[in-house]
Amino acid sequence: MTILRVDPVSPEPEPIERAAAVIRRGGLVAFPTETVYGLGANAEDPDAVQKIFTAKGRPATNPLIVHVADLEEARELADPWPETAERLAAAFWPGPLTLVVPRWHGVIDPVTAGLPSVALRMASHPVALALVRAAGVPIAAPSANRSSMVSPTTAMHVHKSLGDAVDLILDGGPTRVGIESTVVDLTGDVPRLLRPGVIARAALEGIVGPMETGPAVVPADTPRAAPGMMARHYAPRAELRLFGANQRAAASELARSSTGAGGRVGALLLTPLDVPIHHPLYMPAESGAYAQRLYAALHELDDLGCDLILVEEVPAGAPWDAVRDRLQHAAT
Ligand code: TXA
Ligand code: MG
Repeated sequence: MTILRVDPVSPEPEPIERAAAVIRRGGLVAFPTETVYGLGANAEDPDAVQKIFTAKGRPATNPLIVHVADLEEARELADPWPETAERLAAAFWPGPLTLVVPRWHGVIDPVTAGLPSVALRMASHPVALALVRAAGVPIAAPSANRSSMVSPTTAMHVHKSLGDAVDLILDGGPTRVGIESTVVDLTGDVPRLLRPGVIARAALEGIVGPMETGPAVVPADTPRAAPGMMARHYAPRAELRLFGANQRAAASELARSSTGAGGRVGALLLTPLDVPIHHPLYMPAESGAYAQRLYAALHELDDLGCDLILVEEVPAGAPWDAVRDRLQHAAT
């Protein structure tokens, strides 16, 4: 396994070309996107795609996002390319938005888990764009972590989670957005928000009209159109407990009893909790900054050996939808 530094703003041609060569010969490359690090393989090569599932321990029923270099490539992988996709792509690509569209027959089964649709994304991170361009093929890339664990926002997170299962990691520093892309399903009559992200629902609805919302939680063993909706997802090793404003006393009690039993307690807080905590992390009060920090904070508390992580509920309201979604899944 090799880790190559790359400039996140103007990626040097040399590391990009080396990574593209690994993709072309069927290997796995982890690379930064503006959201989280992706684990990429040639989306046209079944053996390469299979390596993603093996490395992540990901169920074959959970389809991958295909990263494209431009709009042209996206249109080619869809059949048909919906008019709603054209409008959303015009507004938000390149960027943290994934569009689920009817797939072109040539898209291989392992990528879509046999579904009649394919998830497409044109990322805005210069390294991601340069890599997909240099590879000359679309790149299938889920988040570069073991299945159901916390997504990586740094190259070290990738290394810690996947180790030698990756051939090469492009290290472009910490990612800007910090949580996964917004996923919108455009295969039905009415667009459906499958996974909230930093692109606000209202902004999407301003372009395609009112959207339906994906099933919040489905049992982990049923086939699903939206694997990100798995009950337990984005979870650290430690037990994660969410507490609201009227549960502060109970949270303090939990910390006390866990500490008493020899446990190590961490917390993600917006306001202080009046009980000793081994590792209290104070989180940003603004939702975008919170999102950027969230996974790194969870990785940090895991690395510190926390058994219990107490998480103060984030404010109600649309700007916090994506963060609230990730916290709820992690706490399940
Ligand atoms: O920000 C991101 O989206 C990152 C970066 C690397 O691009 N990728 C990512 O991939 O989060 P992953 O595999 O962890 O999540 C993929 C999500 C699934 O949870 C599911 O909701 C959706 O993409 N998905 C993929 N194919 C789909 C399909 N055919 N129909 C419905 N949902 C699909
Ligand atoms: Mg993931």
